[in-house]
Amino acid sequence: MNEPLGIILKMLKLVRFARIYGWQRALNKAIARTRPHWLRRRISYRRKATISVIGCGQFAFSSVCFFLRRHCQNGFLSAYDVNRQQAQSLGHYYGFREIAVTVDAVLNHPSLAVLYILSNHASHAAYAIAGLQRNKIVYVEKPIAVTRDQFIELSVAARQSSGQVFAGYNRPYSEAIQVLKPYVITQKTAGSFSLNYVINGHVIPPDHWYRRPDEGTRICGNIGHWIDLTIHLFAWRSLPDWIAVQIAYANPDEPDDNLVITFTTDQHDLVSMLFTSRAEPFEGVREVMHLQYNDLIAHIDDFRQLTVHQGAKRRNWHFTPKDVGHERAVLQPFCADNRAWHEVELSTLLMLFVRDQVLTGQAMSRFDVPAELRRLEADVEHLIASPSTVSF
Ligand SMILES: NC(=O)c1ccc[n+]([C@@H]2O[C@H](COP(=O)([O-])OP(=O)(O)OC[C@H]3O[C@@H](n4cnc5c(N)ncnc54)[C@H](O)[C@@H]3O)[C@@H](O)[C@H]2O)c1
Repeated sequence: MNEPLGIILKMLKLVRFARIYGWQRALNKAIARTRPHWLRRRISYRRKATISVIGCGQFAFSSVCFFLRRHCQNGFLSAYDVNRQQAQSLGHYYGFREIAVTVDAVLNHPSLAVLYILSNHASHAAYAIAGLQRNKIVYVEKPIAVTRDQFIELSVAARQSSGQVFAGYNRPYSEAIQVLKPYVITQKTAGSFSLNYVINGHVIPPDHWYRRPDEGTRICGNIGHWIDLTIHLFAWRSLPDWIAVQIAYANPDEPDDNLVITFTTDQHDLVSMLFTSRAEPFEGVREVMHLQYNDLIAHIDDFRQLTVHQGAKRRNWHFTPKDVGHERAVLQPFCADNRAWHEVELSTLLMLFVRDQVLTGQAMSRFDVPAELRRLEADVEHLIASPSTVSF
């Protein structure tokens, strides 16, 4: 692409993002990509600095710190990243008290109260465990774990800690899902869900860290969002006893880029997720969701619009800025009425189950909900009886 065209497209993207997210957030997203070293905020000593961040990449810069700065009384304490320049640019832009040289310096800082983990997927669980073992409040981005061992160790730490843990799964906190909830939970009789998601994901190059074998595939990296949202919606009614999982791959050589996952359950639910990433969506990830539950029909268009039909009644909501739930999810450590952690545990078990299915190329399998939950508790008890050694 020639340079003038490239600049025009970047300007167009900025304008488009401003219409979707508002100017401040759109500019913040652009600054997060360029990170000019001269943009520094003076450190404020009026706010008590208690929030630290591990992993200072795009999401930390464009979203997490943006919302924390906007809403929190607490100030920023330590920024840490394996890439020091990332930590410096984030730390200087948001006025962190210190750019930590080691992760121990973050974890053992006496003023640390709330730890945000926004690093690569394979590192989430170990950092979250380290925070919980120090009885801190921990916000860990999705996925909370990419292996079963990590997940069990994290579950043990969550049960043993006097701190708290929150996950970065944000769709349940979106305005569209919040508006939809009373329509479902006030139904007089329990019904079956018909859910259909169509997701246009980012194009991820072959050398991107998401592709590394230990990072859990795009099932953990991306599709976990809609697996988690499905568990959240099921929990509005009651969880099924089993979930039959079927997967169709467009190209078995790239199994997690273009695929359809379906869930059917003993409660006659029918869920389909089409995830496709054949070309980069100019406005970022795009998602459409259809739901039917008894006489209720709902359509969510990219978390910018919700339409609900019930019999002859029809209502429309527009969400400007677009709200996939980032803001409210990021603020979980400072809010009451957060979703239950056991939902995140179950959605993680199902996500790891689907991921294993993708890795083995299996087309069909069945996830037994009570058996998986029993196995989780047995593994947790076993580990508590004979602790292992994850530490920082
Ligand atoms: N909830 C959401 O909607 C959402 C959206 C985007 C990203 N995310 C999540 O946010 C996290 C970061 O994603 P991103 O888009 O900012 O990626 P990114 O590549 O821009 O940033 C990751 C950062 O982590 C740093 N890092 C890598 N390994 C590390 C380690 N072991 N310790 C400390 N730092 C390390 C990298 O140097 C980089 O600066 C991921 O978990 C991602 O899934 C969530």
